[in-house]
Amino acid sequence: MDERDKSGDSADDPGDRFSTDFYSKYPHLYAVYMSEGNALLVSHFALTRCEEWGLQPTRRGLSYGCGPAVYSIDLAQLGIEMVAMDLSPGMLEHARARAQNAGVEVEFHEGNMLDWVIDDPVDFALNLGENLSYLLEAHEMLQHLRTAARSIRAGGLYICQLSSPLVHWSQNAQRVVARPPWIVFSGLKPMQTEDLVEGHRVSIRFNGDTVLYDPIRQVFRSEIAIAVGEGEQREEFSKVEQHRAYFPQEFMALVALDGSFELLGLYFDYHVDAPLANNPEAAAFIAVMRRTEREVER
Ligand SMILES: C[S@@+](CC[C@H](N)C(=O)[O-])C[C@H]1O[C@@H](n2cnc3c(N)ncnc32)[C@H](O)[C@@H]1O
Repeated sequence: MDERDKSGDSADDPGDRFSTDFYSKYPHLYAVYMSEGNALLVSHFALTRCEEWGLQPTRRGLSYGCGPAVYSIDLAQLGIEMVAMDLSPGMLEHARARAQNAGVEVEFHEGNMLDWVIDDPVDFALNLGENLSYLLEAHEMLQHLRTAARSIRAGGLYICQLSSPLVHWSQNAQRVVARPPWIVFSGLKPMQTEDLVEGHRVSIRFNGDTVLYDPIRQVFRSEIAIAVGEGEQREEFSKVEQHRAYFPQEFMALVALDGSFELLGLYFDYHVDAPLANNPEAAAFIAVMRRTEREVER
């Protein structure tokens, strides 16, 4: 095999992009990635933004693509009525069990954030973990914003985390080659977190050694892998995922075009004192938006 072919080894077709298999099968393992400390940071960020923008009292919140619902559970413990939705039935089952163990009520729904709408609109919504990058086409982002406007009340906030286009353009890539339609980054240091789950060492790795990027569609293809156990007992489950990088100016233009939200700020992670513009190397950025008064069909 020549060098060019080797570079593309991890470019397996990811198959159905709205498949829930991976998250449904391993929700408890994925949860290793979620730290309770991060939940405190998220809750603090969300509630202080609500206070800043006059949402007092903040009664009801929503988490899109909630995953193990760590953020929803923390917010529910702080007295917020939480609704959490996800595409993956297995993930929701796991999240329900977590909420029950934590002794809090969270209203769970299965749905696709492209068209799912709640009847009783919320004061604020979260869409974290870079879930929005699963929307591979710009028109899907518009469709989502239109639907989200029906679930968030006028004046309510929408807090989203988006992948920075720079995340994979890491300086540590040893080789960057063009293999149209892909640019191939290889020799990357994977992003990895590990912990113990029921006595087994579990590690979750985002991005293998190689990440593919199609600059025309702004789509990345990379691997998410979960390993359980050590030595000969070690088992690994992996999936090739596709993500779209929304460039900050493009995102701002889509939000303006849709007209359901006004952008209040773009931040380097959860640091309101660190606007994105001053941090071009941020791995992800947070957008805070406010629902406009624009009428939406219900
Ligand atoms: C990377 S995890 C993020 C979970 C959590 N929000 C976090 O911050 O860690 C992605 C989650 O989004 C869900 N998801 C993916 N596409 C979705 C869609 N179109 N609508 C709703 N949920 C989706 C997956 O099932 C999974 O639980």
